[in-house]
Amino acid sequence: MLQKDARVSEVLITHDQIEKRAVEAAQWIKENYKDREPIMLGILKGCFPWMQEVFKNVEIDCSMEFMTVSSYMGGSKNSGTTKIIMDINTDVTNRDIIILEDIVDSGKTIKKVIEYLNLKNPRSIKIVTFLDKKAGREVELKADWVGFDVPHKFLVGFGLDFDEKFRNLPFVGVLNESEYK
Ligand code: IMP
Ligand code: MG
Repeated sequence: MLQKDARVSEVLITHDQIEKRAVEAAQWIKENYKDREPIMLGILKGCFPWMQEVFKNVEIDCSMEFMTVSSYMGGSKNSGTTKIIMDINTDVTNRDIIILEDIVDSGKTIKKVIEYLNLKNPRSIKIVTFLDKKAGREVELKADWVGFDVPHKFLVGFGLDFDEKFRNLPFVGVLNESEYK
């Protein structure tokens, strides 16, 4: 497995650390959702590696759904408009939803997703995010479970992309500025 990439200036989170933290996320889900069959709702595409890591460790019944939302349009800053490209395809009335996200930065994407899902009358909505870039926050939003707090830098790997690349890196690192400037 790759341990580094020349375009990444610093590895912040190793694959080992990610695996351990995913087990803890799954444990938290088990403790909080026993007998409630939660819907694990992944926000594509960034959630994909993190969600699979958590999902395989969840020891209660749960289902799996996905939504695709877009807010970046290929750049490195949230453009402010969140578009639903693929909607959730199941009835969530009175169900407990756990949103699985790769990273919360400005908070705008998840805030919009929550506003949208609330129209469908779920029983609860909670956020399990792999990464939390709290210094980037522009709207009030607090994740219910955070894997790792990360600095206000542009990161790639383990689901996080720049121009659709780097999602496959097995670690999280800081992208060299020369790659996007
Ligand atoms: P927010 O709406 O600003 O919170 O942005 C959330 C989305 O932006 C995440 O789901 C990511 O897809 C993307 N994002 C935020 N920060 C980064 C980063 O450092 N690298 C790659 N993608 C990021
Ligand atoms: Mg995302």
